[in-house]
Amino acid sequence: MEKNIAIKYNHFKSRAELTEAEQKLLEQAKIARKNAYAPYSDFFVGCAVLLENGEIFSGNNQENAAFPSGLCAERTALFWIGANFPDQKIKKIFIVGGPKEFSEKNPPIPPCGACRQSIMEYETKQNENIELYFANLNDDIIKVSSIKDLLPFYFDSTFL
Ligand code: THU
Repeated sequence: MEKNIAIKYNHFKSRAELTEAEQKLLEQAKIARKNAYAPYSDFFVGCAVLLENGEIFSGNNQENAAFPSGLCAERTALFWIGANFPDQKIKKIFIVGGPKEFSEKNPPIPPCGACRQSIMEYETKQNENIELYFANLNDDIIKVSSIKDLLPFYFDSTFL
């Protein structure tokens, strides 16, 4: 039997389609992106995370001469939050990425597979969806209401 999974997402073509609070998060992700340490790929990614207490924390990709020792922007931010605010729910994640020399052609950058799995861990831990936005520098923005939309058939602790 063949089955289908449909996902729902929003595509915003301008930051004006976001709330003011969301625009602030987008801006924070862009600022974080500027501080990325990405001398090997020249691919700069920033991430801003909104917690339920209203605080915003950000991260960026941190590369290493021993390539696998580096870490993506999303996990840099999320692991720090997990370490310091383990009981705060995560409400929204904004990701902005692209080559250092950004061109109009660069699309919004979705999170990599390992970051999807990590975001899923926090979403299942807090038992509440995390809204995820990924954007380019031109304010072309994709939003999903849960990481489940980007990771169907996900693996979690219920299988252990
Ligand atoms: N990168 C991220 O920071 N997040 C992603 O979800 C995709 C990839 C980083 C890792 C590496 O430093 C650079 O982008 C190129 O892959």
